[in-house]
Amino acid sequence: MSNSPSALKEWAALQTHVEALRDVHMRDLFRDDKNRFHNFHFEMDGLIFDFSRHRATIETIKLLGSLAKACDIEGWRTKMFMGEKINVTEDRAVLHPALRGSCSPSLTIDGENVAEFVNKTLAQMESISKKIRSDKKITDVVNIGIGGSDLGARIVYETLYNFQDGPRVHFLSNVDGARISGILKHLKPDSTIFITTSKTFTTMETMTNAETAKQWAGSAKNFYAVTSNIHAAKKFGVPEDHILPMRDWIGGRVSLWSAAGLPVAIAVGFDNFKKLLSGAKAMDDHFLHAPMVSNIPVMMAMLGVWYRNFWDWNAHVVLPYAHNLRKFPAFIQQLDMESNGKSISRDGEMIDYKTAPALFGETGTNAQHAFMQMLHQGVDILPVDFIIVKEPGHELEDHHKKLNANALAQAQALMQGREKAPAAAYKTFEGNRPSSTLVLDRLDPWHLGLLLALYEHKMFVQGIIWNINSFDQWGVELGKTLANEILGADTAESTDQTTLALMRRLHE
Ligand code: F6P
Repeated sequence: MSNSPSALKEWAALQTHVEALRDVHMRDLFRDDKNRFHNFHFEMDGLIFDFSRHRATIETIKLLGSLAKACDIEGWRTKMFMGEKINVTEDRAVLHPALRGSCSPSLTIDGENVAEFVNKTLAQMESISKKIRSDKKITDVVNIGIGGSDLGARIVYETLYNFQDGPRVHFLSNVDGARISGILKHLKPDSTIFITTSKTFTTMETMTNAETAKQWAGSAKNFYAVTSNIHAAKKFGVPEDHILPMRDWIGGRVSLWSAAGLPVAIAVGFDNFKKLLSGAKAMDDHFLHAPMVSNIPVMMAMLGVWYRNFWDWNAHVVLPYAHNLRKFPAFIQQLDMESNGKSISRDGEMIDYKTAPALFGETGTNAQHAFMQMLHQGVDILPVDFIIVKEPGHELEDHHKKLNANALAQAQALMQGREKAPAAAYKTFEGNRPSSTLVLDRLDPWHLGLLLALYEHKMFVQGIIWNINSFDQWGVELGKTLANEILGADTAESTDQTTLALMRRLHE
């Protein structure tokens, strides 16, 4: 297969290497290397990335680095930042880093200067967010959008709870009427602003919710739109000066840095939105300039590849020990699984290795009382990312100490297990279960930007290794088409008998 990573000698070297580590316990790795934490962690301003608790030796890291080199991560990184159309199935550039000022100011796409577009849109966001924040009549903002037009702004809004000093923001994504009725019954048309965020302005859920909201409000005069389909937004009735543009080169799931961040700018102020962008830019700079072997997103990505492709493990768990990061796993789920849940290569061939693992997560300590039993004693091994925040952002020190002690204890228990044979077999903890620990100095806009951009680049690197296009999402199309057929009762001959029978029952 052309360009297949599995055909590379660096891939084969890792296949051999994994056998040498198969029976090695991390406890022994720690015993043999008194400097293991020192040797297996990176630090940058505001962030510690610890990867000492992995089934990895210095040799593993070298071999993973060689695979990254052989797959030309550096070359692809340049292509992305230079605006090459690396999303080939949609013929689009992938330029979310440009939204935080990380690309060349002279870069043009389809005849338009990218930096000028970004700055103009930021100026528009600034004036709109200031206007809405200073209008004391406005108490509520409803963002109508789904997928990337919802999750990014939502995670930032919820995480920056301590910074919210504008109107309340509600995120309306599901087409389930229960959600919109639940929101609207507490609101009044005169004090509510709607932002319809939809790159295409055609997404069924979003347009259905937007139409219902417009009827409730009586007109679209209090509507704003964030879209690349300006024509459709105007047709919907959104006033022209309330429309903020998107571009093809802004992928939905990486769009929170664009005008899709308007609800955030309204809730926490434009200056805080700019700090979010500069945190992300700091990560872009690290990703661009740190050598492969000490590059945090590259190392995170390669450890994921290590477990997925060489240990054959199927899932990855993200555990933020911060209540305000409770939506983070859902955001990362879309980022990783919509981007890298693919089985056709960039060359259009069926691939013969695994790609994105199933990803899930929950805040700690809640997860400990829900599913972590399986992580400690289940038959599957699920690598974990622990995310810890150093400074609490509140005065309850005792709570914060307990929260972080739990995070450290879980990572330690997963790694060490219980060495002494227990009296009863059911008390066995074999340990040797890997995790990374990320420590953020604090949960403010800057550090959140840094964290989100880190996971974006990790996703990018994995997509390159797996030789897939991380920036399309054709897998969601068939379901959309069939839903429309079912809605119109326009079933094709190929409609299966169960669908037909259930349709009949639902209409009875
Ligand atoms: O579910 C697929 C998807 O295309 C996502 O990638 C996207 O973020 C979401 O739908 C919403 O799309 P739009 O912004 O066009 O409404």
